[in-house]
Amino acid sequence: MSNAIVIAVDGPGGAGKGELTRKIATALDFELLDSGAIYRVLAYAVRKAGLALFDESSVLQEAKLLDLHFDNTPNGVRVLLGEEDVTSAIRTEEAGVNASKVAAISSVRLALLQRQRSFLREPGLVADGRDMGTVVFPKAQVKIFLDAAASVRAQRRVLQLQSSGKSADYEAILKEIEERDERDRNREVAPLKPADDAVVIDSSNLSIEEVFNTAAQIIKERTGLECKL
Ligand code: DC
Repeated sequence: MSNAIVIAVDGPGGAGKGELTRKIATALDFELLDSGAIYRVLAYAVRKAGLALFDESSVLQEAKLLDLHFDNTPNGVRVLLGEEDVTSAIRTEEAGVNASKVAAISSVRLALLQRQRSFLREPGLVADGRDMGTVVFPKAQVKIFLDAAASVRAQRRVLQLQSSGKSADYEAILKEIEERDERDRNREVAPLKPADDAVVIDSSNLSIEEVFNTAAQIIKERTGLECKL
């Protein structure tokens, strides 16, 4: 039996889970699972093979064969599909929408379950996703549901794109965020929702430091561990 601790952080896209989970993993020296990246890479592989995102048997086949690796480098995590570095290609708005489409197929989710659980190792794992606390790690010692209003998430995304020199259309981004939320929340299998024993943090009016401090407090209460950066 593993004594590894699991900290599950779920919530909609753009609520700040990525930054929060990276900080917690660094503070505790825990492994990090970015489950969204797995769905993003799968959708990328499906498109690259010229297959349709809604064709269940093709997507399932790709999911079973997915040659995906996360490579930790001093400059961050590189995501590899076979030999191809897909780190930036999977971060576009379109890649997120495509990921949400393949993620709605229940057989595909089942095929990726073991791969996600295999990230667990001592002393612990921080898992970022939509169903970490409800399906993938239902016994996680800490479950956080990080939420934020869609308008705030869209605004943050606009600023993020602008700061990297890209143009951004607020209305178009808001629409995409709302459509993706709708699909993730209403799918039949593993819909996006807080686990019964999750603590909800609404980050709409909080800075990343405030979110981190709130999460650190919850982690301390549930596990006794101190998150020190
Ligand atoms: O967290 P993200 O934006 O990288 O996730 C992209 C999509 O993948 C998201 O819209 C829904 C899907 N996803 C999921 O269904 N389950 C997860 N655990 C993580 C992501």
